[in-house]
Amino acid sequence: KTIYLKDYQTPAYEFEHVNLSFQLNEEHTTVSSSIDVRVQRKKETLFLHGDKSMQLDAVLVNGTQVADERLTRTNAGLFVSGLPEEDFTLKIVTTIKPQENTALEGLYKSSGNYCTQCEAEGFRRITFYQDRPDVMSKFTTRMEAAKDKYPVLLSNGNLIDSGDADGGRHFAVWEDPWRKPSYLFALVAGNLAKIEDSFTTMSGKKVDLRIYTEPHNIDKADHAMVSLIKSMKWDEDTFGLEYDLELFNIVAVDDFNMGAMENKSLNVFNSRLVFATPKTATDADYAAIEGVVGHEYFHNWTGNRVTCRDWFQLSLKEGLTVYRDQEFSSDMNSRGVKRIGDVSKLRAAQFPQDSGPMAHPIRPEEYIKMDNFYTVTVYEKGAEVVRMYESLLGKDGFRKGMDLYFERHDGCAVTTEDFFSAMADANNTDLSAFKPWYQQAGTPIVDVKTSYDASTKTFTLKATQTVPATPGQDASQKKAVLMPIRVGLLDKSTGKDIEIASVNGVAQEKGTTTAVLRFDQKEQTFTFENVEQDVVPSILRNFSAPIKMTTDLEEGDLLFLMANDSDPFNRWEAGQTLFRSLLVKLIADETNGKALEMNTKITDALRKTIEGAKAADADKAFIARAMMVPSESELVEMLEPGTVDPDVVKAARKFVMKSLAADLRPLLEETAKANSAPAYKNEPADRAMRSLKNTCLGYLSYVDAPEVAKDALERYQNADNMTDKIATLSALSDKVCAERETAFDAFYQEWQHDPLVMCKWLSLQAASGVPNNLGNVKALLTHPAFDIKNPNKVYSLIGGFMSNPTTFHQKDGQGYEFLADVILQLNDINQQVAARMAGGFTRWRKYDPSRQALMKKQLERIIATENLSENVYEIVKKSLD
Ligand code: ARG
Ligand code: ZN
Repeated sequence: KTIYLKDYQTPAYEFEHVNLSFQLNEEHTTVSSSIDVRVQRKKETLFLHGDKSMQLDAVLVNGTQVADERLTRTNAGLFVSGLPEEDFTLKIVTTIKPQENTALEGLYKSSGNYCTQCEAEGFRRITFYQDRPDVMSKFTTRMEAAKDKYPVLLSNGNLIDSGDADGGRHFAVWEDPWRKPSYLFALVAGNLAKIEDSFTTMSGKKVDLRIYTEPHNIDKADHAMVSLIKSMKWDEDTFGLEYDLELFNIVAVDDFNMGAMENKSLNVFNSRLVFATPKTATDADYAAIEGVVGHEYFHNWTGNRVTCRDWFQLSLKEGLTVYRDQEFSSDMNSRGVKRIGDVSKLRAAQFPQDSGPMAHPIRPEEYIKMDNFYTVTVYEKGAEVVRMYESLLGKDGFRKGMDLYFERHDGCAVTTEDFFSAMADANNTDLSAFKPWYQQAGTPIVDVKTSYDASTKTFTLKATQTVPATPGQDASQKKAVLMPIRVGLLDKSTGKDIEIASVNGVAQEKGTTTAVLRFDQKEQTFTFENVEQDVVPSILRNFSAPIKMTTDLEEGDLLFLMANDSDPFNRWEAGQTLFRSLLVKLIADETNGKALEMNTKITDALRKTIEGAKAADADKAFIARAMMVPSESELVEMLEPGTVDPDVVKAARKFVMKSLAADLRPLLEETAKANSAPAYKNEPADRAMRSLKNTCLGYLSYVDAPEVAKDALERYQNADNMTDKIATLSALSDKVCAERETAFDAFYQEWQHDPLVMCKWLSLQAASGVPNNLGNVKALLTHPAFDIKNPNKVYSLIGGFMSNPTTFHQKDGQGYEFLADVILQLNDINQQVAARMAGGFTRWRKYDPSRQALMKKQLERIIATENLSENVYEIVKKSLD
């Protein structure tokens, strides 16, 4: 059943206060809910969402049992009719079985402990309720459980009572003073250890901070705690936002569908995003933990205090909160490197979604299953849209908009339109041309032509924009959209930015070296005045809009920018543009059976980049980034539909890596050596060195020489931290040699007891390019290290396999058949995870006709299956349409 935005209606009944009571037992859990209902509008019936897995024991209105004929139960919930016209109390009792809940939505068990996940629509698996974000109530939660097995009992807000109960049981009562929607409810009961710290807010209130884990993991939570404290401080410093309770809890659980969840004062995290020690987590893991701890904390204002009116507005909280966590990470680490990483992710994952069958605007208008819309579009493109306000309005203007947003909407459930209005009104500016970003799917395509006129001393930039057709929106109905284009002009003789005096007759502030152009027409010309001599333009600095841009810049200009641009993003981007055009050409040559040839100018430019690492003040993390060749998935996105042969893409990319490795070998070896620290330290400079060293080793793994594998194994054996272990393992993972087997076995022997580390072991093998790797992946499915009920394991093994071009896209279609088998198996265990895996097929139309046919066959097989979940159905149906 499809849900439409246009059908939205305000609730007729409001829930003022909810009193929940949980009896947690091994066989079943009883949930009583007592709700103070306020009648807003008289209506025939009250509809309560409720999953079919629940047993309904009783419904009482004002203390009296409701007669059966006034209750109608459907697959989706319960209609209650004959209700009083005045406010009333509604009591509902249900019985549920958390121990059998493998969907990991609602109340479930993970490692023997109880926990919840209610966003988006999990609360309806706990009790019957108006499970929609615009119904906000005050929650009081009482829970009772066996004291020995579940010594820790947690819910939202403050602990107001606790004590012993009969039969070796105990209870706790939690009260949350803040009104909230049901999706922010949480409950945890288990045998958990904790670490504690505290934070004093800017107004001097002390907040207790606690992180709970299973006892054997409690030594791995320190980095998360440090990250939490940094987040709290950052939100005060940056947005003036203070925490609003005396307690903040994080609980780490092993079985979790997503990354983490911002339940009010009781965040629940996938343990992958909490646990970190140098021995078990990579530098990338450390960074991800800092970012996600920040993300969930920031939701306390952007999501909880101000929440979404309905789920179509998801980007209101997610786009904004991703933007906030990106800014937080940028302030804590290297801003340029962070931006490069975020844009790479956007290109590798969101651009493909935006041009495929699941393309949707950041504010969708319809869905079958909301879970399917927790997407890179709503999150990452949504964050880009928020970032564009900042570029258009400036940092101060953006802050004014945020302040007005909270002033107007604190405590409310609102829409993206409300956010838009706050930004426009606070800055007294007309942003109406910006609105299509919320309504139009598809990545805008912008082309820029530049010219210099010496006689008038003007530099002209002529831009055109189009938005491609997407499902349900043809190209003719797409409007031009306002986007900021940041532009700098580099003096050709010095490579330095010139001062920009005026654009289209509008004087720029003194000292401006980057102008922000407001581009909002299909075609628009921007003239820079008083430009004394010809310049090289640096266009779309910091990736100021989420678009695909082409320009008339030539190879020489790009090499110049790569060497000189003051904007780190564009310095990186110039190199990427060169790599991309080379690779697209090589892919064509490989397809046509022509001999591949390296562009040695690129090799020389890269040599200079790497040599830059010798400078005392070198930004090594940036250099490592600049050395990265565009990913295969980014390249696939650039190719025409119906043409992609992943073997060809891989071959072309491999050719580039091999020639660079061969030509730069001594320099790569020298750089790897110079950046090999004698002992691990977790400081920014050490992390930067590691990433540079490991990037060099990654290149060197393309050198065909026996000593390369020997060296990698030796480095593996000497590595004293997980970052280096993984880098050396991955350098070996494509090779067929004894060293590879030795290293993978050693890793397994050392870490088989640690499920998170085993995820790394699984994903490296799933991503491997060794021949007949499909056989290995299939064998791992029954390996003790794998567990199909654990999402992290599925994402590692099956997710890793899906993005492995040679294994998944194996010509005989066996990879496709295998994925379909796994999806159907998962469909009966965990629908959200199954649907994510079905995402592996969505881009089937990109590939060559024979692969297309084979993938389509599997999609048709899946959709013809009985008892297919709505989650999987929606993805498969949209892929086939
Ligand atoms: N709000 C969470 C976050 O981004 C995501 C939870 C999504 N859960 C889901 N089942 N779709 O921080
Ligand atoms: Zn979020």
